[in-house]
Amino acid sequence: MPKPLTDKKTSFRKTLIHWYDANARDLPWRRSPSLYKTVVSEFMLQQTQVKTALPYFAAWLEAYPDFATLAAASEEQVLKSWEGLGYYSRARNLHKLAREIAEIPAPDLPTDAKSWLSFPGVGPYAAAAICSIAFNAPSAVIDGNVVRILARLTADEQAYKNSTDAAKSYRGLADALLNRQRPGDHNQAMMELGATVCLKKKPNCLLCPVRELCQGYARGIAERLPALAKTSFESKTVERAWVNGPAGILLHRIPDSAKRMRGLHELPELGELGLEPTRDKALLERKRGITRYRITERFHRFAPEQLPDQLPVNYLWASPEQVQKLPFSGPHRRWIEELMKLD
Ligand code: ADE
Repeated sequence: MPKPLTDKKTSFRKTLIHWYDANARDLPWRRSPSLYKTVVSEFMLQQTQVKTALPYFAAWLEAYPDFATLAAASEEQVLKSWEGLGYYSRARNLHKLAREIAEIPAPDLPTDAKSWLSFPGVGPYAAAAICSIAFNAPSAVIDGNVVRILARLTADEQAYKNSTDAAKSYRGLADALLNRQRPGDHNQAMMELGATVCLKKKPNCLLCPVRELCQGYARGIAERLPALAKTSFESKTVERAWVNGPAGILLHRIPDSAKRMRGLHELPELGELGLEPTRDKALLERKRGITRYRITERFHRFAPEQLPDQLPVNYLWASPEQVQKLPFSGPHRRWIEELMKLD
């Protein structure tokens, strides 16, 4: 368990907010903030760094300036706008959430984190972030950044199995430290400290506003905290078909029943088409990581005549112009461009 900070909480809270007031980055969702901007930014920032999200956030607000516009868009349009950001369930959930919110009269909108948990795609972190920033609700966020700061602050050397366990054990301390006058700014200050100063690999302790309160710094062990078990990676290979014929490129639309990437398009896997990997070298081979998987993607060239007479459902031929318009994941879009050049 992290040790309590007994008499230092007030000092931590005040020092942190002063530092944030002087050092907060000028980010677009912080300029004339609104519930809509807060929700969109928190969805984008859940698994994505600020610098990657910035151009998407600008384009998103241009395309969908409010909940009503987003609610009226088609899912395919929404996925297309999210293309390249990854974790596409965020886009689908944000779209569903906009449809729910658009139906609720403004005075009836819930303003507390617990109620927000029932909206699509809103977990404890997003609920606390959204309600504290948009409604000043007194809910502390806990994510990897916050765990890191608190583990270092309390010199907590306990080995945690995973980040969920660590987050649970910091709930009490995070709540006790929360600035109840300015919970949204306090939470953003924690995110800011984690993203710009209390870095995972090389913390900038000399620039840290709360260094004097940090037991990890005092003991010279900040850099190696928190002690989290290493993720175990699993390798797998995915064999895919590149079929570029007179009707266009053969694509697979990931069905609505799939666990991930529903509604996006991809180059088809061989199995469902009854194809075997070619004996020659694959046309293209690329590696990528998704969560704990290390995946080798191999692409084999086939002629349309090698396909079954009747394609299974969810397969389609797309001309290069159609390919531009359909939603893909970022890697699939890149691979298609590479394969077109090899053809
Ligand atoms: N990460 C998650 N939410 C954020 C926010 N509001 N500002 C900066 N980084 C964040």
